[in-house]
Amino acid sequence: MEQKREKFGSRFAVIAAMAGSAVGLGNIWRFPYILGEYGGAAFILVYIAATLVLGLPILYAESIIGRRSRSDTFGAMKKLAPGTPWRWAGLLTIISPILILSYYSVVGGWSVEYLFKSLSFDFMDMPASEIPDFFGRFISSPYQPILTHTVFMAAVVAVVLGGVSKGIEKFSKLAMPALFLLILVIAVYSLTLPGAFAGVEYLLKPDFSRLTAGACAAALGQAFFSLSLGVGAILTYASYVKKEEDLHISGVGTAVSDLIFALIAAFAVIPSVFAAGLKPTDGPSLLFETLPYIFNKMGEGVPLVSSVISVFFFVTILAAALTSAISMLEVGVAFLADEKGFKRRNATLLLGFLCWLVGVLCSLSFGPLSGVKILGATFFFFLDHLCSDWLMPMGGLIFTLFVGWKMSKADVRDEFTNGGTKNVRLFGAVYFLMRYVAPVGIIVVFVTNLLM
Ligand code: PFF
Repeated sequence: MEQKREKFGSRFAVIAAMAGSAVGLGNIWRFPYILGEYGGAAFILVYIAATLVLGLPILYAESIIGRRSRSDTFGAMKKLAPGTPWRWAGLLTIISPILILSYYSVVGGWSVEYLFKSLSFDFMDMPASEIPDFFGRFISSPYQPILTHTVFMAAVVAVVLGGVSKGIEKFSKLAMPALFLLILVIAVYSLTLPGAFAGVEYLLKPDFSRLTAGACAAALGQAFFSLSLGVGAILTYASYVKKEEDLHISGVGTAVSDLIFALIAAFAVIPSVFAAGLKPTDGPSLLFETLPYIFNKMGEGVPLVSSVISVFFFVTILAAALTSAISMLEVGVAFLADEKGFKRRNATLLLGFLCWLVGVLCSLSFGPLSGVKILGATFFFFLDHLCSDWLMPMGGLIFTLFVGWKMSKADVRDEFTNGGTKNVRLFGAVYFLMRYVAPVGIIVVFVTNLLM
């Protein structure tokens, strides 16, 4: 029975929602600091290759499964491969977005704090040298970041309660273009800062000696994180996509806008890291240390301008983070509602609370719980590493194996080409990438990473 499932209204809405899931803190916060840790330009090249050669085929695979089944991740496998253990693989992919949302919301909370600080002009006369200290004090506080994490999580729950077309769609359409413009303005400005050129060199001159197996795994993990792959977020959104939409266009539109966003964010952050005398290896604090510096510089002479830009920036960054976060929550909500008979409202509240709780532990791992380590990492970093470097690629592997080896080629073709009317010539190459290249690529990175 074709259930009364909500649908996205237009092609722009599909791309905006998928790109809304993809573009988020992963591009603006995570990408610059991960590439800083792994050595700049060479890492970027591997990242671009990972996005196009492995990421895009997985995006297609998720889109095909989602739209074909019109179901959540678990239900999709149940429907398309009835009576087989595949559905348990589907279930596995539901766990990761819940874990990701927990720590993602903590970083979302940091942005909430920065928005408040911008609104109250607090950064305006903070000397550059004090910004890192301020950030360190804030994230290690036992209650402040938990408060902002709570605010962020509450916003996520509120949007998901609004439903697919009313909440998510409207929100994505508005926020994404605004953020794009702002990050572009900031990137151009940061290139004009004295000392920024060293950062540009860092981003453009590859040093291949730093390209270790770990760096390649991190590039793959970043591509997965940034494209929201392997966790059923794209799959679930694709289940709301109309039959007439072109999955190739929504896939390429999503992957390319995500890539461009990440690259512009790198040009906004890294040159100003050098201009501010910070180090690209500073880790997750990088974005939060450089932004106030950029805004301060912008404001020399005209302080109000910089405050206004900084407020706008944090509002849109929060919007981007929200559009990603709601897609994470939506995976679990769709599962509980479709498979377990939960009311959407109850499912949203229950999962929202669960993520909040785990997020509290993540937040405390920068302060009172910083001594508690799992496999040598604090709780926050353990979860991040587990999800992006292991669970997400694992999920990607499951989806491509499912499309490439379990579903019939005729069905895959029918879904990707809209019944033989679109992208017919492209299909052979896409199928090859989904069936062979993506799974083999992921397994190679896994194995090398395990052996190193
Ligand atoms: N792609 C998002 C970002 O780059 O911020 C993060 C993300 C969204 C991860 C949705 C996982 C997910 F299911």
